[in-house]
Amino acid sequence: MDQVKIFDTTLRDGEQSPGCSMNLEEKIEVAHCLEKLKVDIIEAGFAIVSPGDFESVKTISENVKDCTVASLARCNIKDIDAAWEAVKGAVDPRIHVFIATSPIHMQYKLKMSPDEVLEQARAMVAYTRKYCSNIEFSAEDATRSDIEFLKKITAVAIESGATTINLPDTVGYTTPDEMEYLIRNVKENVRGAEKAIFSVHCHNDLGMATANSLAGVRGGARQIECTVNGLGERAGNTSMEEVVMALRTRQDEYQADTRIDATQIHRASKTVYNIIGQTAPINKPIVGKNAFAHEAGIHQHGVLANKKTYEIMTPESIGLRINNIVLGKHSGRHAVGKRLEELGYNLTKEELNSCFEEFKVICDKKKNITDADLEAIATHHTTDIYTDTDDGYKLDWFQVSTSNFTTATCTVSLIKDDEKSQDVALGDGPIDAAYNAIDAIMKPSPHTFDIFNIHSISEGKDTLGDVTVKVNAHGRTFTGRGLSTDIIEASVNAYLKALNKLAAYDNKVADQAGAAEA
Ligand code: KIV
Ligand code: ZN
Repeated sequence: MDQVKIFDTTLRDGEQSPGCSMNLEEKIEVAHCLEKLKVDIIEAGFAIVSPGDFESVKTISENVKDCTVASLARCNIKDIDAAWEAVKGAVDPRIHVFIATSPIHMQYKLKMSPDEVLEQARAMVAYTRKYCSNIEFSAEDATRSDIEFLKKITAVAIESGATTINLPDTVGYTTPDEMEYLIRNVKENVRGAEKAIFSVHCHNDLGMATANSLAGVRGGARQIECTVNGLGERAGNTSMEEVVMALRTRQDEYQADTRIDATQIHRASKTVYNIIGQTAPINKPIVGKNAFAHEAGIHQHGVLANKKTYEIMTPESIGLRINNIVLGKHSGRHAVGKRLEELGYNLTKEELNSCFEEFKVICDKKKNITDADLEAIATHHTTDIYTDTDDGYKLDWFQVSTSNFTTATCTVSLIKDDEKSQDVALGDGPIDAAYNAIDAIMKPSPHTFDIFNIHSISEGKDTLGDVTVKVNAHGRTFTGRGLSTDIIEASVNAYLKALNKLAAYDNKVADQAGAAEA
């Protein structure tokens, strides 16, 4: 069985797409998920882009132990220096340099001749070699490049020290046949090709990213670049979960596998969706809500007789344990803890206690607590990025008055350091009114809303509302989440958490400025 390396670029190509930006804590959380998944390479970011990107690549490099950590760099000295500074603390650092090779990119974007591009690639791969031996070279827009030119630049990159050659389908234009041919042809006709691993990096503009990546493997690629949930520019990148499960399910066809622990897929997918404040489309392969549901009578009948009639992989294989036992207000701490453990959450005693407290509160409002509810509770209580800062404002109570013919009003009472503060405000709807009242009490720094997202955790009108709020201030994102059967309460709690983090950041900056003056 051949091994295919999984190069995950959720934190670079995924994160750079609109609506998917993450702050440092969120990126670290994702990096931990990727390490548990056992991806081979984490592309942690593009270090030169901003101080924030640099900091996150550096922090991830210093914290991740079981994966190679890479930073992207254009073929220029400044980018490569920054990439090295950011990844040098990693157990196995990689610098990923790229330059465009298609006629349209060379002429209009780079304004360089093919010879100049060739020379730049040679010089910059050689320059990278002074820092590290793990070098990836990407020929951006390879699938629209002249194949003879691709062969030349690949040979030059390998000669200069590149150990991985990536031929990306940057604009999602190619087809499986073309991709297989491209990889095979370049691999077979380039001097020194046996010294490098060939890689595919596909975008999904025509919905063929997974098929194209697998075709690349057939052509000889042994690295697939992909993202959790297929996040990425425009229509996204290849979905990690799709290529991993396709290779595993169809080993007969591909004779190749990855080292991924597939039982972590469900959790990684949930974590990434939670962080970006989205949910999977219900019919999304592998991670959508319906991916393992059998609704039609004829299907149910078949599955009851033998699961394999309609199931090509098991839910358990991706870490999803389907269970019809529903917990409720008579369930004890032990039952809740056991079920959470079965769902893959190994909680500390304190975490279990706080989950159980919330479980009891929710039981008073909702009769049956499903696995989805439990997972929502667990992620709210175990993920650092969502939990409260210790000293901030907490909700005491709120009261809204709203109708379809008057302006909404909300009174909010908050507690901080045992002191209560109240205010009342009008708004365009009850949530806007509640947020205006909170602003009047907390007087936060000016901020904008990157994301305000409400989604329901399960079916039924008593479902839990899961609210994610991301506010942006000082060029940073502050995230809060709230969970309640009452969506206004969930919205208020999510906003309070985000604003408490913003206030903690402001205080830290003020303290540092004070210390510098003193
Ligand atoms: O899509 C692309 O070509 C890329 C490269 C930078 C690898 O993301
Ligand atoms: Zn890309």
